[in-house]
Amino acid sequence: MGSEPVIEVDSLVKRYGDLTAVDNISFKVQRGEVFAFCGPNGAGKTTTVEVLECLRVPTSGSAKVLGLDISKRSDLHAIRSRIGVLPQQFNTFELLTVKESLEFFGSVFDKHVDPDELIKVIDMAEYADMLYKNLSGGLKQRVGVAIALVNDPEIVFLDEPTTGLDPKARRGVWDVITNLKKNGKTVFLTTHYMDEVEALADNVNVILNGKIVAEGSPRRLISKYGGQQTLVVEEGQVEAYNVLKGILSDVVMEPNGDVLVKINSKSDIANAFSALDENNVVYGRFSVKGASFDDVFLNLTGKKLVEGELR
Ligand SMILES: Nc1ncnc2c1ncn2[C@@H]1O[C@H](COP(=O)(O)OP(=O)(O)OP(=O)(O)O)[C@@H](O)[C@H]1O
Ligand SMILES: [Mg+2]
Repeated sequence: MGSEPVIEVDSLVKRYGDLTAVDNISFKVQRGEVFAFCGPNGAGKTTTVEVLECLRVPTSGSAKVLGLDISKRSDLHAIRSRIGVLPQQFNTFELLTVKESLEFFGSVFDKHVDPDELIKVIDMAEYADMLYKNLSGGLKQRVGVAIALVNDPEIVFLDEPTTGLDPKARRGVWDVITNLKKNGKTVFLTTHYMDEVEALADNVNVILNGKIVAEGSPRRLISKYGGQQTLVVEEGQVEAYNVLKGILSDVVMEPNGDVLVKINSKSDIANAFSALDENNVVYGRFSVKGASFDDVFLNLTGKKLVEGELR
């Protein structure tokens, strides 16, 4: 991936009356990457995305999309023709089939992608003639992605494409996003799912109360904010707990009998293993759990992000 910014946001502010929804943010998105914009409900994700889509006018600051100025009326048409948008809580004509919907939206643009081609991209050939209203939630979202692609855009904005979907349906949408990247599209993905960030994003910005509080690759953020690894002694029960408590500081026993130990150095692992062995403690598996993007959020905010809410 070369470094060619296709989105450049500089000191962007958006206020609604007294509320500052987007509070002086700056970032860049590079061509061809999956860029995740991650934060809880009300953080300012949709507002930012809609400013970049030229749907909302910023209070101050500036942004360029594909080198074009979002504040210039003369650039608006050029921007819109080169981006694709899946709005949050997307819906389309209930009584059109998948293919009919794609034909309709294609007809809006002079240059558009063949509906059958798009159906292949979202892997929905067997549903092409099904009415939109009869599709499952995950399939509806995939139609939404296809509609965002009708004008063969360079950048695709997907605003929470997997919120509310079950795990299998989410994977289906992930596969589509992975394919978009393979086909050279830049994807701007808003989400509050940490596993989604980890699975899909090349870079992520975490937004909280309108401010960007962390940015970088998921891996970089995990190593910076992810915290310690945890040693898991499955079904170690109170015997393992007592032995480990004697040699290490941060030991807890879960209700299911697993014993968890925070690791500070590699020697902690070796010491724990030998101590269990010397004391003939019986346990299930012995494993080390790495930090995940979940921990990043916990460390940044002191809370977990569950279904968009900080808890
Ligand atoms: N048109 C509007 N008028 C007034 N306030 C608004 C408007 N749109 C959004 N807001 C407020 O701005 C803040 C940011 O909202 P935004 O929709 O950008 O957040 P979000 O990160 O997309 O949240 P979610 O995860 O719930 O979609 C929220 O407090 C919201 O209530
Ligand atoms: Mg939103």
